[in-house]
Amino acid sequence: VRDDAISAAHYVAKYILKRLKEFEPSQSRQFVLGLPTGSTPIEVYKILTNSYQNGEVSFENVITFNMDEYVGIPRDHPESYHSFMWRHFFSHINIRPENVHILNGNASNLEDECLQYEAAIQAAGGIDLFLTGVGEDGHIAFNEPGSSLVSRTRVKTLAYDTIRANSRFFSNDINQVPRMALTVGVQTVLDAREVVTIALGARKAVALQRCIEGGVSHMWTLSSLQLHRHSMIVADEDATLEL
Ligand code: GLP
Repeated sequence: VRDDAISAAHYVAKYILKRLKEFEPSQSRQFVLGLPTGSTPIEVYKILTNSYQNGEVSFENVITFNMDEYVGIPRDHPESYHSFMWRHFFSHINIRPENVHILNGNASNLEDECLQYEAAIQAAGGIDLFLTGVGEDGHIAFNEPGSSLVSRTRVKTLAYDTIRANSRFFSNDINQVPRMALTVGVQTVLDAREVVTIALGARKAVALQRCIEGGVSHMWTLSSLQLHRHSMIVADEDATLEL
C-alpha cells in the first residue's frame, strides 16, 4: 500500500524495470509482458517511457500482449485499446512493432482471433509478468462477473456497470460504448509466471475488499489471483478504504 496514486505507479514501474533488467534474453526467449489499458496504468507507462528516454532500459527484447480490445469500433478510433497503447506507451519506446500483440476486435472470425492469440502467447513462451488493473465490479481484463475462472481468450459481452464506468471515455454517452470485447481469460492471466495488479482510488475500494477478503469467486474475478503463487496488488491508500 502506497500513500497516493503517484507513489503506487512509481512502485509498479520500478518493479517492472527490475524484472526487465534481471531478464537475460536468449535467441529463443524474450521477456513477455502482459499489459492493461484504463486510466490506472497511464502513469506507469509515463514512468517507463522516461526510463527508456533516460537510457535506463530498452524494450528491444520485450514482447507484449494486451489484455483486451473492444469489438465494433475501428482500430484507429481514439478509444480503441490499440490507439490507447500506441498513444500512451508504444510510440514513445523502442519496442519492435512486430513484438506488440493486441487483440483485433474487427477480425472477420472473432473466435479464431482468440484462439490464435492464445497460441501466440504459448509460442512466445508464456507471459512472464502480467500487469493488470481492476474494474469497479472486480473484473480483471474484461472478465465480467460470472466469468469462468478457467476461461481463456474469448468474446465477452460487457456488463452494464462496465459500460457505464467506461462511458467517461466516450463523451459520457453510454450509447457510444461498445457492447462487446475480446478479452484474455481468467486462466490466461493465472498462467502468467507473475501477476501485478494496480488499484487506485476509492472507486476501487469495494472491489479490493471483495477480492482480497472475500473468497475466490467468479463474481469478482480478480479474486482468482488468491490462487496464484506469485501475485501482488499495489494500491494507494484510497483503494484500501474498505479493507
Ligand atoms: C476496463 C479494462 C480493464 C481495466 C478497467 C479499469 O474495463 N478492460 O482492464 O482494469 O477498465 O479501468 P480504470 O483503470 O480506468 O479504472
